[in-house]
Amino acid sequence: METKMQHNIALIGFMGVGKTTVFEQMKQLGLPGVDTDTLIEEMAGMPVSDIFAQYGEPHFRQLETQAVCRAAELQGTVISCGGGAVLKQENVDALRRTGKIVLLTATPETILERLKDDDTRPKLRGRKTVEGIAQLMAERQAVYEAAAQITIATDGKTPQAICAEILAAVQE
Ligand code: S3P
Repeated sequence: METKMQHNIALIGFMGVGKTTVFEQMKQLGLPGVDTDTLIEEMAGMPVSDIFAQYGEPHFRQLETQAVCRAAELQGTVISCGGGAVLKQENVDALRRTGKIVLLTATPETILERLKDDDTRPKLRGRKTVEGIAQLMAERQAVYEAAAQITIATDGKTPQAICAEILAAVQE
């Protein structure tokens, strides 16, 4: 299937909601894609967890703004954003200028199940319980909702079904 779009689709949401999986699926449909964490890792020459450990979160967030702004300059591209990318209004504005922002959601239980064996997320260190995830999610919820133009729940859905839902919603 050949799919083309004029606007970008920016995927946002908490860690583990499935942004990367959906992004990979979108690429299978022939849509170009960039992942802000990958851009950041290329800029820094090291994994995200090392950037946090060696330079701290504020430095990571600066690189993230550069990555988001660079990605937002593209056209017709799926942009998979790190879970904290829309915490800065500047990043939301850049993504909105050239695309639609799609919030993916999942319950804390689903997220814990998906990330329980993953050690690459510094923001989940010491918080990998349903309560810990729910707390950070609650702190971010209002920002996610304010940034989003479309919201899609992912629990129990296949990546194919989520992609179809996103593509239908952005075309409306
Ligand atoms: C973060 C989410 C991560 C990554 C970094 C910080 C966050 O991306 O950008 O670890 O603050 O939510 P994913 O949402 O792709 O896991």
